[in-house]
Amino acid sequence: MGQELPKQDPAGRQAGRITERLPADAAGILRAAELLRLGGLVALPTETVYGLAADATSGAAVAGIYAAKERPSFNPLISHLPDVAAARRQGLFDANALALAKAFWPGPLTLVVPAAPACEVSELARAGLPSVALRVPAHPLAHAVLEAVGRPIAAPSANRSGRISATSAEHALADLDGRIDAVLDGGPTEVGLESTIVACLGGAPRLLRPGGVPRSAIEGVIGRTLVLAGEAGMAPISPGLLASHYAPAAQVRLNAEAPRPGEGWLGFGPEPQNFPHALNLSPSGDLVEAATNLFGHLRKLDALARPSIAVAPIPEHGLGEAINDRLRRAAAPR
Ligand code: TXA
Ligand code: MG
Repeated sequence: MGQELPKQDPAGRQAGRITERLPADAAGILRAAELLRLGGLVALPTETVYGLAADATSGAAVAGIYAAKERPSFNPLISHLPDVAAARRQGLFDANALALAKAFWPGPLTLVVPAAPACEVSELARAGLPSVALRVPAHPLAHAVLEAVGRPIAAPSANRSGRISATSAEHALADLDGRIDAVLDGGPTEVGLESTIVACLGGAPRLLRPGGVPRSAIEGVIGRTLVLAGEAGMAPISPGLLASHYAPAAQVRLNAEAPRPGEGWLGFGPEPQNFPHALNLSPSGDLVEAATNLFGHLRKLDALARPSIAVAPIPEHGLGEAINDRLRRAAAPR
């Protein structure tokens, strides 16, 4: 049987907690699942970013996520499931939601749907909303853990609140070592950007967050243009979408032609010259490669402790919409 988990102190810190490093094998998967069933916190890979996982059906376990991340408020979280059938037990899928689930699950899409009457996701994970955010991730380790736990697993990105999302076990540990029970190390993530979030709450589906599935692919399935919530006078219905988010310590300057003296440089596409303190998201101008590199490069440039990071213009099509969304948040006033 698993060991007893340490109690949280009133400030939510996990005094003396040791974070287990779990390998990407059967034993690591079993241990991760055991810790989750006991109400523990485990950082694990999905194909988008590392998630900080907890049993979504347990309010106490979910509270541990907010404490470890130091989230300022109880934003609703995404609940992860092993397959479409398990997701449909938690939420009510209309025709659009079902078509999107069939087209993109498992994969980097989250659907916000009305909670089913038998929904087991705790009020805290849903922030008291009548809806629930559901995702079936494609990563084999995430899938194996979800199968083994047999309950919906809440998982925001495995970073401290407001910081850059974690795309490797090292990134997750840099923010959360000593604050969580374990990290399951599956190497770097493939997509590198969080999931696209679409709300199917009756009426036209709405894009709540651009992400790993490009808008055009979603529009191809639903056969209409997606309205971006918060655009065109619509009230944002995704309370977790803070303007400043994904923020490095350095200031971020967007759409720059070249770095100013002393600035770090985040390039995209072929570059005419070698800038100092420079990283390139994709020298060939590939937006998929750029998405994979985005958060890791921001972390590396931030570690150079330059006062600001200048960023080359990124085209707005395909995954560019999600990349620019994250960059605008990183650059927003704090
Ligand atoms: O790729 C991802 O989506 C990653 C991996 C770990 O799955 N997860 C992730 O979770 O990015 P998080 O907590 O960072 O983002 C969840 C977003 C928040 O912006 C929240 O506001 C929105 O989902 N959300 C969750 N439930 C919602 C609901 N019922 N209505 C509207 N928005 C909701
Ligand atoms: Mg996040």
